Amino acid sequence: MDKIIIEGGKRLSGTIPVSGAKNAALTLLPCALLTEEPLTLRNLPRLADIDGFQHLMNQFGISTAIAGSRPEDFGRVMTLQATRITSSVAPYDLVRKMRASILVLGPMLARMGEATVSLPGGCAIGNRPIDLHLKVIEALGATIEMAAGYVRAIAPDGGLPGGRYSFPVVSVGATENALMTAVLCNGKSTLHNAAREPEIVDLCNLLVAMGAQIEGIGTSDITIHGVPRLHGATYMVMPDRIEAGSYACAAAITGGEVLLKGARIEDMEATVQALRDAGVHVEPKADGIYVAAEGKLKPVTLSTAPYPGFATDMQAQLMALLCRAEGSSVLTETIFENRYMHVPELNRMGARIETKGRTAIVHGVDKLAGADVMATDLRASMSLVIAGLAAEGQTQVHRLYHLDRGYERLEEKLALVGAQIERVGGD
Ligand code: UD1
Repeated sequence: MDKIIIEGGKRLSGTIPVSGAKNAALTLLPCALLTEEPLTLRNLPRLADIDGFQHLMNQFGISTAIAGSRPEDFGRVMTLQATRITSSVAPYDLVRKMRASILVLGPMLARMGEATVSLPGGCAIGNRPIDLHLKVIEALGATIEMAAGYVRAIAPDGGLPGGRYSFPVVSVGATENALMTAVLCNGKSTLHNAAREPEIVDLCNLLVAMGAQIEGIGTSDITIHGVPRLHGATYMVMPDRIEAGSYACAAAITGGEVLLKGARIEDMEATVQALRDAGVHVEPKADGIYVAAEGKLKPVTLSTAPYPGFATDMQAQLMALLCRAEGSSVLTETIFENRYMHVPELNRMGARIETKGRTAIVHGVDKLAGADVMATDLRASMSLVIAGLAAEGQTQVHRLYHLDRGYERLEEKLALVGAQIERVGGD
């Protein structure tokens, strides 16, 4: 297995191009199921999860073609066409590797009148149930059956009527599944306490470009007027706000300055606020976001929350940064249980972090020390890279498949701004 080797202590300086957003891409791709016409997505990040999703779409009989990108370019263009769907089953071996496969349930049901998806099973960052996905799809008129580890959604004869659902908990994925189902229902649907993440807005914008009728985009009350059919579209995936925030933390921990090219500050206000509270200079520019850290970092107290709150997907990276603050920070994780797997690894690098239930107290230290580390989820792995960039000596980050799921050519991007980082084979 590959690993990344970082010689810490290099100040980052320069420009990092921000890729298309993984979590937006993973909900835009299944929209290809909603039409017989071609869907072209531009600025798709080159990531293992996107390859996995492409594979899943091929399994349904959907054609996918990659065009117009040279190996040295970041991002790529994919055209998907679901002229005929030959299977409406998402099998266990694909769903197991990629939890976002559950996002085919709604659009497959809407197009075919039925869909069968393997239950995703446990996940390293907590239990992650799919009950809300099923409840909202039921509220739109489907019948749900469970058998042999699979969930099957079936529309009544004459199609799904649409309906009303109020989410008891804000769920990004369940809101996405609901939207992709409701657009092709016979009648009107209303979603209350819907997720408002920028990736949801990106999904709504694509659906509207395909002919959907949606009101309340970007709010927690969304009304969808079903239409009989959708058409194809060409759409640009939004920039990745979590990737941008991660590189902001990477630059700041080295006392560096970077331009995050293509990042949109309006998508990441809570992250920007947290960085500013930590004493980091953050400034919007015409072509991205400029981040500069000089002097001491300050401690921060915050809780993760659904958008527009501070993203759970930024918690580990901010924690790595706060390891070098002067004083004690308090971070509370409210979205997922068991999302502190990076803590013991950061502590092995000389951090002083205590956890109590959902709260972590990060006592700033004068220095971090390089070590061999590994993490069991994507953002936790990134926090170890960030710590490694500031640590004295060498850090080796193992189990790179997590990073490859979510950071497009991480080592190349960090090397562009002066990090001493390389990927080597073998473990
Ligand atoms: C998405 C993101 C993930 C991010 C998360 C929260 C993608 C591919 N992944 O995940 O990176 O960390 O949003 O911003 O976009 N819940 C239930 N029942 C359900 C669904 C969710 O109880 O049916 C709970 C979850 O356990 C969690 C909370 O709701 O406590 C939020 O989860 P959700 O927003 O659904 O996360 P994902 O869509 O899985």
